[in-house]
Amino acid sequence: MEQQPAAAIWRTPIVAFDLLLAMEHLPVEVIGNILSRLEGARDVVIASMTCQKWREAYQKHLHTLAFNSNDCPAYRDITASQLEILITRTIFQTTGLQGLSILMDDVDEFNAATVIAWLMYTRETLRRLFYNVRTSPNVNILEICGRQKLEILAVSHSSITGVEPNFQRFPCLKSLSLSYVSISALDLRLLLTACPKLECLELVDPEIAISDAQMTLELSSPTLKSIYVEAISLDKFMLEADGLERLHLKDCSLEVFELIGKGTLKYFKFDDVIVIHLDIGETVDNLEVVDVSNYAIFWTKFYQMISRSSKLRKLRLWDVTFDDEYEVIDLETIAVCFPQMNHLSLRYELRNGVMHYGLQGSTNLENVTVLELGWTVINDFFSHWVEELLKRCPNLRKMIIFGVVSEAESHEEYQILANFTSSMVQLMRKYIHVEVQFEYE
Ligand SMILES: *[C@@H]1O[C@H](CO)[C@@H](O)[C@H](O)[C@H]1NC(C)=O
Ligand SMILES: *[C@@H]1O[C@H](CO)[C@@H](O)[C@H](O)[C@H]1NC(C)=O
Repeated sequence: MEQQPAAAIWRTPIVAFDLLLAMEHLPVEVIGNILSRLEGARDVVIASMTCQKWREAYQKHLHTLAFNSNDCPAYRDITASQLEILITRTIFQTTGLQGLSILMDDVDEFNAATVIAWLMYTRETLRRLFYNVRTSPNVNILEICGRQKLEILAVSHSSITGVEPNFQRFPCLKSLSLSYVSISALDLRLLLTACPKLECLELVDPEIAISDAQMTLELSSPTLKSIYVEAISLDKFMLEADGLERLHLKDCSLEVFELIGKGTLKYFKFDDVIVIHLDIGETVDNLEVVDVSNYAIFWTKFYQMISRSSKLRKLRLWDVTFDDEYEVIDLETIAVCFPQMNHLSLRYELRNGVMHYGLQGSTNLENVTVLELGWTVINDFFSHWVEELLKRCPNLRKMIIFGVVSEAESHEEYQILANFTSSMVQLMRKYIHVEVQFEYE
């Protein structure tokens, strides 16, 4: 990429320039509000240079500032130290910032002392901090921002050590996100106890140092409502969260996952997860959404777990594999157990000639209005299966068919696909009130 001088940033024109001048009669608080809504720090700075009043608004009433190396290519063409100066100048002209976002992907390390100065300068008023800055040495965010008003904290590519819940308390923190952060199991546990109002926790590809040989991560939070965990691999993960409503695991590999709760769980999503022993115990009476994909399932056991969820509205079983090759998910049981269900998604499996979704019974799925059906390898049986499901859903409004078409499709497979298309055309003549959509990949 062509090397641009640092000053290029300041010369970048912005479309709203004339508009900004035209709005000069606005009160400074309003201008401060407008500036806070502009996307990047660059726009704010340029806008504030246009006149005295805007400069004043910027200094006294700007409450949100965002620096994102991905937003503006110019950021990437200047050195880390030039960028540091730019950010320092911008931050130090504000008073009372509530939101600060510094996301520096692919930018070299910053000077730790400078970054500490930014945080110390803003911390007393800061409510939202999005922090992805590599520094040398590492900056201890918790120590700097603890005991303040932070409500949202998102930290990436950093390491957290020596959590002291008595000193590093986050009395107002509702949302905590740690991505690519290295932390010990003990520190993570302590960190949660230091956040007495935490509702939302996100852990993305954390590097968790666990001292015990059991490789167990035990977390507990009585206030937690939502947890998202991506890319962790552990022997045992135990979560005690009495008020948990949303659980989403993605790309995880766990020997044991245990959720201890009080029946508040509404949303359960497993995506590309390996869990050998799953125990969500007494937490399932109020489930509304169960969404499971790329998951090796012991259906009978899993089903026993969710079968008490009579309020279930959405069930998605997509590319689940069955540990017992003779297990069958039968429609009858689904229809009886989940009478309120309005959205059903199933990707058809036929392994070793065993059809894992049975069509026995005659109970209709009265409330189902949306049906998503798919195949991974198409065969003659698919259209029959679709037809049977349509019969069982008298109030259906929309059906989406998901197909996988491999490039190396044989002549016979094309023939099956053609036959399927013909049978769908015929079938849908009978269901003209149902909207049909096809998505092939
Ligand atoms: C459909 O759902 C409603 C509540 O959403 C419920 O009252 C009704 O009983 C359900 N229908 C059947 C056939 O179970
Ligand atoms: C497609 O349908 C025709 C006519 O019903 C049938 O003879 C043929 O065997 C089918 N082809 C395949 C590959 O299923």
